[in-house]
Amino acid sequence: MEQTIDRSAAIRSLTYGSLRLETRYLLSPLAGFTNLPFRRVCRELGGVGLATTDLVSARGLLEGSRKSLQLIETCPQDRPFAVQIFGREPNVMRDAARFLAERGVDSIDINMGCPVDRITKGGAGSAMMCSRDTVSLVRTVVEAVDLPVTVKMRLGWDAKQLTAPRFAREFEQVGAAAIAIHGRTREQGFSGQVDLDGIRAVVEAVEHIPVIGNGDVRNVEDAARMLNVTGCDGVSVGRGALANPWIFRQLEQWERTGRYDPPGTFDDRLELMQRQFKYLRDQVGADRGLRMFRKMAHWYLKGMRVRAARRHRFQLVKSLDEFEEAVAEVRREGPASGCRDGVLEDVHVPVPKGPVERW
Ligand SMILES: Cc1cc2nc3c(=O)[nH]c(=O)nc-3n(C[C@H](O)[C@H](O)[C@H](O)COP(=O)(O)O)c2cc1C
Repeated sequence: MEQTIDRSAAIRSLTYGSLRLETRYLLSPLAGFTNLPFRRVCRELGGVGLATTDLVSARGLLEGSRKSLQLIETCPQDRPFAVQIFGREPNVMRDAARFLAERGVDSIDINMGCPVDRITKGGAGSAMMCSRDTVSLVRTVVEAVDLPVTVKMRLGWDAKQLTAPRFAREFEQVGAAAIAIHGRTREQGFSGQVDLDGIRAVVEAVEHIPVIGNGDVRNVEDAARMLNVTGCDGVSVGRGALANPWIFRQLEQWERTGRYDPPGTFDDRLELMQRQFKYLRDQVGADRGLRMFRKMAHWYLKGMRVRAARRHRFQLVKSLDEFEEAVAEVRREGPASGCRDGVLEDVHVPVPKGPVERW
């Protein structure tokens, strides 16, 4: 694709402590989606500097919860990778970090951004942005392991408490290796637009650690704006990767050459969807895989412009044969709009609406 987007801010390398990342484009954690199979396909397409797991309960890890342990499963192709932990008890977070270090993860990310009531009611996620104890929790985790420890947060709890710049500086002082910042407050949920000036304030607050800008990046142009306006050192992409898993490769190509390839066609997406499903089956078995893949199939098929009735079939499939039949029908019928071997129109990934308390 031709493009004339200013890339003056784009050419810099990114390191988390001693960990050098191949690119400055990171996969943002998306609970329920950024599992090992999805991380693998994004990496195979190229351009991913670092991928992070969904948020994982620190306590769940220490108690050996099957769900938590499955979330941290990885493979040699899934490197470097970070595990994101949440919890508000410093000792539990410290022990979980040690447990992860022993398992060879490359980096540990502390969740301070999750706005969901279930997490914030216990004082974790974005509720940590309201507590002074948060800095000592980060210090405790940093001191417990010999790995880069990063923090992902929002701009603050609400517009009156924009605590991110102050926390970012304090986290740097206690040894955090990087900060990822989603440019919205907890109160905003996903409403409105990402506040690039708010991210810039975090970039300006730290002395030397990298700041990763996050929010609403759906294409190269959005990433260029994020880099240029905020001065951030890297960009993390969440929903944009569900709509277009080629986005990291496009960003890396753009940074290197100023040009980039279009995202995959209908047939490329269908192949990718099947590949991801195979990885999931290998990991969790066919029965669970079929159930777990439903929401991912929805996004693939939306991106492929498959009509609603055909998409719905994937929500009902109960066996591998039915899955293969549904794939064959989709292949036969092609996209409901747009062309089979060209660029399909971008899909918009919606998020929960209304007050975050009710999500
Ligand atoms: C379905 C969903 C799940 C998410 N799960 C997590 C999570 O586990 N940990 C986290 O730090 N952020 C999580 N987020 C927030 C994203 O990482 C990201 O900060 C946010 O979506 C804005 O970036 P985007 O516009 O590129 O998606 C989630 C967002 C969505 C939509």
